Amino acid sequence: MKLCMIGTGYVGLVSGVCFSDLGNDVICVDKDNNKINNLKNGKIPIYEPGLEELVKKNIKNNRLNFSTNLKESVRKSDIIFICVGTPTKKNSNSADLSQVYSVGKEISKSINKFKIIITKSTVPVTTGDDLEKIISKKVNKRLFSVVSNPEFLREGEAIRDFIYPDRVVVGSNEEKSKKILRNLYSPLISKGAKYVSTNRRAAELIKYASNAFLATKITFINEIANLCEKTGIDVEDISIGIGLDNRIGSRFLRAGPAYGGSCFPKDTKAIVSTADKFKSNLSVIKSVIKSNQNRSDLLLKRLHSIIKKFNNKKVSFLGVTFKANTDDMRDSSSLKIIPYLSKRGAKIKYYDPTGSKKEFNNVKNVEYANSIQNCISGSDVIIIHTEWNDFKSINFRKLSKNKKLIIYDMRNIFSPTKIEKLGIKYFGIGR
Ligand code: UGA
Repeated sequence: MKLCMIGTGYVGLVSGVCFSDLGNDVICVDKDNNKINNLKNGKIPIYEPGLEELVKKNIKNNRLNFSTNLKESVRKSDIIFICVGTPTKKNSNSADLSQVYSVGKEISKSINKFKIIITKSTVPVTTGDDLEKIISKKVNKRLFSVVSNPEFLREGEAIRDFIYPDRVVVGSNEEKSKKILRNLYSPLISKGAKYVSTNRRAAELIKYASNAFLATKITFINEIANLCEKTGIDVEDISIGIGLDNRIGSRFLRAGPAYGGSCFPKDTKAIVSTADKFKSNLSVIKSVIKSNQNRSDLLLKRLHSIIKKFNNKKVSFLGVTFKANTDDMRDSSSLKIIPYLSKRGAKIKYYDPTGSKKEFNNVKNVEYANSIQNCISGSDVIIIHTEWNDFKSINFRKLSKNKKLIIYDMRNIFSPTKIEKLGIKYFGIGR
């Protein structure tokens, strides 16, 4: 099939590349000339394991193209995916849909035969209805169908999540587009992916409800971890003990710092804001948002009780992104913790497998170390902030000569007994 992805951010690029790998002809469109030129040469703008290889392979096979010409790309395609950003609006909790609607207007100028127009961007319930109205101002209703097909890709695992999804969700109010979409996804369905066909509004809500539920699950275990810290219980035992109940499930029960990234914080706020508009009170999600916001303060308090005096303490910070296997800093709790330590006079060295971050350029007493070894040698306190595999086999005793070394493992990647056997003081989350 001939597909056009509008927006080569995370969602558009990964989905476009994976669709081309399934044998479709894909054009990825973006306004950014520089980005498109780089992509044509196989240079990708984001960190995502395996993506660059897949881009190069499919450019070579001539199934993957990049363009800045939206009109021409839409004309050549049968299915158009809208993959532009839907950030939180300034001074509000709702999603800013201006990019989605402006792309909708652009598309409406180029419809020459029947097209399926899909929102892959995360959009609130009724966005498809509004998009349909916008396009039908220029185009006869028989010439297009607006469909919702949300993505469930995790950064760092996006290619695997695309190829082996738990489910594919397609929301359409028309039989014709339902058939075409099922056909598009047939290679994944035949490998075992469940296919959920709903009406358009339901698909829009499935996406938000999924992210809000996952954020709730994480927040739940984080609060249980707080209780574990007070009662001498290891939260890892609780995660295993409750996760083995199939009704609960073991995934997304890892306690840690406040959840971050470009999705959970934004989408939990947006679903609450949509519900408010419909006079429906999502009180559970509201308290999840609050609990997660309070979590960073709670961890800072815990840091106080662990480190006691910050002044001139040498602190090593391992991993600054919002989670492992990504270079994304959006809503990462390191953005709160590092400046906090710096303000109180600590000397911070940080290391991240994806390199130094501009966010810390102007923060006093913060320096980037180009290796794990350079980061932790001579350190008083080591904070493990993300769960990169690179950190799991560090030999702390070998790398740090400090007899009073303290480790604060915010992802519980080490065994407390093993670390304590080395004569190092160990603190984890909920243990
Ligand atoms: C999330 C969803 O998992 C995807 O299904 C969805 O498609 C995506 O948002 C999106 O809407 O685009 P992502 O934000 O990439 O994906 O990352 P997650 O792996 O979900 O992690 C989000 C946050 O939760 C991170 O800060 C992570 O450290 C934290 N987390 C996750 C935990 O603290 N504990 C866990 O057990 C799992």
